[in-house]
Amino acid sequence: MDVLIIGAGVFGLSTALELTKRGGYNITILDRAVPPVVDGSSVDANRIIRPDYADMTYCVMGMEAMKGWRNHPLFKNHFYPSGILLLGPNDSMYRDASFNNLSAMGTPCTKIHTTEDIRSLYPTWHNKLRNHQKGYVNQLSGWADAEQTVKSVTNYLVQQGVTFVCGPHGTVQELLTQGDTVVGVKTLADEKKVADLIVLATGAWTASLLPKQQTRLLAVGQPVGYVQLTEEERVRYQNYPVLLDFETGFYSFPPTRDGLLKFARHGFGFTRTVDLKKDKKESVPPFVPVSSVTLPKEAEDELRNCVCSVYGKQISQRPFSRTRICYYTDTADADFVFDFHSKYKNLFVCTGGSGHGFKFFPVLGKYSVGCMLRELNEKYLNKWAWEKPSLKEFTLDGSRVGPLAYEYDPEMYCIA
Ligand SMILES: Cc1cc2nc3c(=O)[nH]c(=O)nc-3n(C[C@H](O)[C@H](O)[C@H](O)COP(=O)(O)OP(=O)(O)OC[C@H]3O[C@@H](n4cnc5c(N)ncnc54)[C@H](O)[C@@H]3O)c2cc1C
Ligand SMILES: *[C@@H]1O[C@H](CO)[C@@H](O)[C@H](O)[C@H]1NC(C)=O
Ligand SMILES: *[C@@H]1O[C@H](CO)[C@@H](O)[C@H](O)[C@H]1NC(C)=O
Ligand SMILES: *[C@@H]1O[C@H](CO)[C@@H](O)[C@H](O)[C@H]1NC(C)=O
Repeated sequence: MDVLIIGAGVFGLSTALELTKRGGYNITILDRAVPPVVDGSSVDANRIIRPDYADMTYCVMGMEAMKGWRNHPLFKNHFYPSGILLLGPNDSMYRDASFNNLSAMGTPCTKIHTTEDIRSLYPTWHNKLRNHQKGYVNQLSGWADAEQTVKSVTNYLVQQGVTFVCGPHGTVQELLTQGDTVVGVKTLADEKKVADLIVLATGAWTASLLPKQQTRLLAVGQPVGYVQLTEEERVRYQNYPVLLDFETGFYSFPPTRDGLLKFARHGFGFTRTVDLKKDKKESVPPFVPVSSVTLPKEAEDELRNCVCSVYGKQISQRPFSRTRICYYTDTADADFVFDFHSKYKNLFVCTGGSGHGFKFFPVLGKYSVGCMLRELNEKYLNKWAWEKPSLKEFTLDGSRVGPLAYEYDPEMYCIA
């Protein structure tokens, strides 16, 4: 069967991995650029790898993914088990549900009430917890080098006979439809590519290829900052855990080998609404990569405040070596979408990462293909369905804090 997968991020690549494993599929992956795609959501210095979820389904999937990150040859060299410190205000429901779920699954986590509790696990930890904050540490979690993982899987897929077509020849301009079938796609190079099955894994750009879709998917940018540490600082912070703070949405990683400190905010984000066609306005990321942007002042101030409380004043005042607005493909309840489009019987929509998809890279394809072939039970098929009529508002999953989504176009604030 000829399969066209549009998008070489984790959703497309992991689906290709699983189809390759099953055999019998002639797979072509199209993308705007050669993976690792620099402005794709799946590519960055690092991504948090955790099974720590308030939702038990993702908790179980996360445990399964952790096995892949620890043992699978394509993944294990890119995983760094630094542990994660999950903090929140005293009434953080997400944190407590996550702790309870992990405990129920027999994963030992350590409760954190005081700064000393952190130091007993991370002796070099030097800042003080804010008064009312508490949390827990899961020492099995950590982070992955996202760019290297994408490279590793891409190389493997090429060896397995998957064809990659990138650049203008791989950029899809529109889906070619006939009634309830997508017969193929038209590319920017003005070619037509046909296939039996089309997998739409275009992440935050998905809305640009589909008919107007109201509240199903929303692309929102999230602020990311990077600071270059001195060698002395790198050594001082190298044994820190990943920090995820549900009070501010702030998260940060231990420095990379090159001393790059990365931090960001997991919030409601920034929309970038453009007129795609007549009657069709959607939020989409810029189509041409924006290398470095000025963050909204509110977001930069908040990031600096949080950096100050974890890494001290000096580092918090340093110029950012880079900034980025990285796009989430949010769904109203932060569940993924693994389903055929309700209008097109051979268009499989595989997206909706909602800011938490990367960690599932080793197992995502098992679930997306499981839905595609209708092998999984109703619980999963309903959870990841294209149509969820009960979803009217973007409530997300209770993990977001900070200002509600507002309009901000990074292209207008590009640093030359
Ligand atoms: C700032 C940030 C932090 C995150 N942190 C974490 C984390 O710590 N842990 C975690 O688990 N997850 C995290 N996530 C979420 C995770 O990165 C995403 O859920 C996941 O990477 C989404 O993958 P994707 O394949 O859907 O999208 P993408 O990786 O964006 O892939 C989509 C691809 O489609 C291509 N494409 C788009 N339009 C077209 C077209 N018309 N023609 C051809 N190709 C096209 C794009 O070029 C792109 O390569 C984070 C996301 C962001 C933005
Ligand atoms: C696989 O798909 C490509 C692209 O559609 C096509 O050119 C090729 O002939 C197919 N190969 C087989 C063995 O079907
Ligand atoms: C919880 O934290 C708030 C401050 O955010 C504080 O006012 C309140 O007393 C705390 N409650 C408990 C039980 O510690
Ligand atoms: C997981 O957490 C949710 C929210 O607290 C809870 O309802 C559920 O019972 C937990 N699951 C288990 C198995 O503990």
